[in-house]
Amino acid sequence: MQKFTYDTSVSAANFTLILQTESAMPEHQLPVTLEEIPEEEMARYPVRRTKGVKTFVRTKPGGVLMPATYAHLAKRFYNLELRSDDVVVAAYPKSGTVWTAEVVWALLNPHALDTLEAKPHHHRATLLDMDFLHPTRAEDNSPLLQRFLSECPRGRLEDGMTLQLAAVAPSPRILKTHLPINLLNPDMLNICKVVYVARNPRDVCVSLYRFLGMMKGVTVPVEFRAFVESFMSASLHYGPYWDHLEQAWRRREHPNLHVVFYEDMKKDVLQELRKLSTFLGRSLEDDQLRSIVEYTSFGRMKARDAKFPVVDLNGSFFRKGEIGDWKNMASPQLDALMNGWIKEKSRGMDITFKYE
Ligand code: PPS
Repeated sequence: MQKFTYDTSVSAANFTLILQTESAMPEHQLPVTLEEIPEEEMARYPVRRTKGVKTFVRTKPGGVLMPATYAHLAKRFYNLELRSDDVVVAAYPKSGTVWTAEVVWALLNPHALDTLEAKPHHHRATLLDMDFLHPTRAEDNSPLLQRFLSECPRGRLEDGMTLQLAAVAPSPRILKTHLPINLLNPDMLNICKVVYVARNPRDVCVSLYRFLGMMKGVTVPVEFRAFVESFMSASLHYGPYWDHLEQAWRRREHPNLHVVFYEDMKKDVLQELRKLSTFLGRSLEDDQLRSIVEYTSFGRMKARDAKFPVVDLNGSFFRKGEIGDWKNMASPQLDALMNGWIKEKSRGMDITFKYE
């Protein structure tokens, strides 16, 4: 069992969190340090929470903004123990992570599609980030905590309940994360398959704004334009959108990485499922793929959500599921600002999104 401590000694400008580990096992050293965000900067953060994590850290280098609860788990994520039959679904938030994870599960379990209706999504795919996004406390007394106590009797909540539950989960596991690839196990692509989901930044931004607006205990006390500016300046959690994307895009030729675009799934889902099933080493007939398309359609997933919500929101997690919602939200001036940013940031990346 590893023991983590972090030293909050003052550095020149702010606190530097130095992660230390006491372990006999060889492990990867985290390639970043984590700096606490000064209070005056947090005051400008466009999301307010009545409960949960309210302070943030930022990676250096990289500028990835994360809840402070990430700090003592960062090394565990970087040393995440993976199995050869794991499938990691990685994406910047609101890019279609849940949809893709549901599709991956269905491709791996084509004969069990009817069980999709009987169990919640988190039984099929685990969002590892829950450990720092919404860490479970001993007093929460949730069914998940009960499961943790029974399945991991020697476990410690502060070491990440989801990580420890995932460690004892049966194979094959589908592990979801919004962390950029460079903050995950550097051997990941040599061990297991990774599906990276990319979605155009305009719709990601709208989806995130609307999602946060629906979250219980959260308010977004700014106009959409100010929120978009925070997104563009990487002042929202998970930090710079383009760096996140680039981490995957530059590895796209790796045989264990498959990049799927949300927009391509929307335009020709059957074709994308054929590619995904080949990537996962499954040869499924088109009839089976058509059933998967049906079971993982927006309508079917939204209907299941009414029974087993993916997230407890004031509204549906399955909000619109469209390409181009941006144009319903952005003024011509904001559109021009966003377009200039996209042009500048995607220069040299050889990546083109579909926006309608
Ligand atoms: S999260 O919370 O970051 O994990 O969200 P994520 O799953 O990445 O993205 C949520 C958006 O994906 C849409 N979605 C779908 N679109 C089409 N078809 C299906 N089946 C589907 N399932 C989820 C979801 O509605 C969110 O997008 P918006 O634009 O907000 O509707």
